[in-house]
Amino acid sequence: MLSPASISDYRELARRRLPRLMFDYVDGGAFEETTLRANRADLQRMTLKQKVLRDVSALDTSITLFGRNLSLPVILAPIGFAGMMGRRAEVQAVRAAEKAGVPFTLSTVGICSIEEVRRTASEPFWFQLYMMKDRGVVGEILARAAAANCGALVFTVDLPVLGTRYRDIRNGMGVRLSALSKLKLAWDFAAHPMWAYDVGVRGRPHMLGTLGDVLKDANSLGALLAWTTTALDPSVTWKDLEWIRGQWKGPLILKGVLDADDAREAVKTGADAIVVSNHGGRQLDAATSTISLLPKIAEAVASETIILMDGGIRSGQDLTRALALGARACMIGRAWVYGVAAQGEAGIAAVIETIRRELRTTMALIGKTRVGDIDASVLQG
Ligand SMILES: Cc1cc2nc3c(=O)[nH]c(=O)nc-3n(C[C@H](O)[C@H](O)[C@H](O)COP(=O)(O)O)c2cc1C
Repeated sequence: MLSPASISDYRELARRRLPRLMFDYVDGGAFEETTLRANRADLQRMTLKQKVLRDVSALDTSITLFGRNLSLPVILAPIGFAGMMGRRAEVQAVRAAEKAGVPFTLSTVGICSIEEVRRTASEPFWFQLYMMKDRGVVGEILARAAAANCGALVFTVDLPVLGTRYRDIRNGMGVRLSALSKLKLAWDFAAHPMWAYDVGVRGRPHMLGTLGDVLKDANSLGALLAWTTTALDPSVTWKDLEWIRGQWKGPLILKGVLDADDAREAVKTGADAIVVSNHGGRQLDAATSTISLLPKIAEAVASETIILMDGGIRSGQDLTRALALGARACMIGRAWVYGVAAQGEAGIAAVIETIRRELRTTMALIGKTRVGDIDASVLQG
């Protein structure tokens, strides 16, 4: 490939650059990956209506979200351990996002800490929270996110337990390995020297992020991984959302809502926005695709809250489809990680610009000059 053009080209570059274990961790989904595939397939099935002879010489892709102007209705989604795909990827991502005029969301389990990202950022970035059993730790993290002036808190609620991803198990992740398997793993890493040097040597991934500062006994990546699976609180309920609402003064976004009644409950409990998300098909396999559920949820709560969506967004056309069905903006997950794995910060920038270019071309061809005007009328019936 002489020059990558689409997000799937960045995916291919990421596949070549990353050890198999890492690529599969990003690319894979839960169990049989039915939901992972459905997110993409259901988007691709939707067709758009071409409209001609409209003046489309001036296109406006910007929106306002929580008082901030975004140049594009896109947010970089929280990605755990992103810093294993590119050198301190969270820092590269916040830089690329700021330059592109879109928000970046730092995961609870990012390789870089809140403070490290804060040192790079010149604008507020978003922070994502998982509920952990130890509310003291949660409170401490929230205070750090507030001190870092994070622009929004994304509370992810579709992970009371960690989904089972067969690709990860097959690749030995979280599994006791035989000597031969360890050798194979070492070979996989050694066969990707560019990644090993970039991430393993220059990236110093042993310098752990937000949780590394809290956990005195989790001083290695393996320990952090093990700790994460036992620290998540499966007893989390709506009461905890109320508790968080009391702690967090800024915009609060509930991520992982797939049901209209849950969406209504989120609004009632004080969330300022929801993300219609199935965690990119990584949690409940057999869950319906997010694009299929979006209209029902929009019908239930669009007049009362801000609806964001993610899952399978790989192009400006996908973005248009989601906006048409009621999303104000979309999070992109794997797309930006493919970018950082392929080409670092420049790769993330290229991924965002690719989506921007595709959105602009699509808007021109459907005869819409402002993203805010994209509605169900752009869909071919
Ligand atoms: C490798 C990987 C790690 C993720 N880690 C997190 C995380 O730490 N927190 C979170 O809320 N969501 C996490 N997600 C889910 C994403 O935020 C997002 O919902 C999903 O990737 C959207 O689907 P897409 O990848 O098809 O765009 C992760 C997704 C991937 C692919």
